[in-house]
Amino acid sequence: MNVLVTGGAGYIGSHTCVAAFAAGHEITVYDNFSNSSPEALERVARIAGKRPRLVEGDIGDRAAVHALLASEKFDAVIHFAGFKAVGESVSKPWEYYNNNVSGTLVLLDEMRRAGLRNMIFSSSATVYGNPDPKNLPLREDAPLSALNPYGQTKLWLEEIMRAMAAADPAWHILLLRYFNPVGAHESGLMGEDPAGIPNNLMPYITQVAVGRLPMLTIFGDDYPTPDGTCIRDYIHVCDLAEGHVAALDKVASLPGCTAVNLGSGNGISVAQLVASFEKAIGRPLPRKVGPRRPGDAAACWADPSRALELLGWKTRRDCDAMCRDAWRWQSMNPNGYRKA
Ligand code: NAD
Ligand code: UD1
Repeated sequence: MNVLVTGGAGYIGSHTCVAAFAAGHEITVYDNFSNSSPEALERVARIAGKRPRLVEGDIGDRAAVHALLASEKFDAVIHFAGFKAVGESVSKPWEYYNNNVSGTLVLLDEMRRAGLRNMIFSSSATVYGNPDPKNLPLREDAPLSALNPYGQTKLWLEEIMRAMAAADPAWHILLLRYFNPVGAHESGLMGEDPAGIPNNLMPYITQVAVGRLPMLTIFGDDYPTPDGTCIRDYIHVCDLAEGHVAALDKVASLPGCTAVNLGSGNGISVAQLVASFEKAIGRPLPRKVGPRRPGDAAACWADPSRALELLGWKTRRDCDAMCRDAWRWQSMNPNGYRKA
């Protein structure tokens, strides 16, 4: 298929480009590099032996999106482009609503004007809000809520696309709800490269391990979980990338708008992830236990059975592989894509 990948230079997008090339697809990346580096696409080319066509631009720029969709015939869009930092969305709500919601509305409108109605959208487990433990593992029909402007953008975009697909049966939309993507390509050439001090657990751990940060703080060990630390569903980014390839194969044959969890189905605690990482690097990390982080759910993990049933996809890589690959990337690229 000829695939347009918005945000294709980002963390998940770059890994998806590699997986999509391996499956024989053609790729155009559309990205404004607001949170990524062109170097990520160089790495895609090194791994895949093929370079995606790059069009630099913003999804909110109607004229540019129109010209892009007029420039060639695409079979599907994988839409990663958007802002994703929860804390920043609280301090910059307008920027999040504008970039994520307005930008996606422009893209959707230009897609239908171009007669292109196969859409694979990056949603998030954040749409489940702070899940009630009785709903674990989370199925796609679990109650939805937003805890912050970032989560609200995902929830609204899901609702907008559901309504558009209900009104026009020509749409085929997959809302992929990612759980906690971690890890890196096994080559060590591509990985997560957050700007500033990371908020998420795995990049924080790898930056402590490489000496960029002094110490890991585990946010609370008094949760009602077996070891007292929070439980999440970590998913290797290469499994997630392959989930998008499976979605490409199926999107045109699935009618309407369908939400699908992309997770492993396994809950892993913070303490377990840290132990697995320490095993991967062969030494203990400097770490301490601190207070709970406000807003954190004790436990959140997926029921991934719909992904298997509809997409024929499930995760293949375990927690040790996630830690090993995250470490390979960080140790080979201590400053991410920036030069030392
Ligand atoms: P990322 O920031 O690495 O990638 C996003 C890409 O989109 C970047 O390359 C950025 O430059 C680009 N971009 C942002 N706004 C744009 C715009 N207006 N026009 C063109 N390009 C734009 O993030 P990621 O981790 O790869 O996440 C990709 C998607 O998946 C996002 O929509 C995110 O909300 C969603 N998601 C991510 C996670 C996660 O933990 N990484 C979890 C759930 C959902
Ligand atoms: C975060 C986002 C969520 C997003 C998800 C996937 C918040 C509140 N939620 O979820 O919207 O969908 O990432 O990208 O930011 N932890 C520590 N020490 C640290 C960092 C984290 O102990 O330095 C713990 C947290 O308390 C949590 C776990 O590690 O229990 C995972 O945290 P994180 O990686 O931030 O992901 P989520 O909170 O699940």
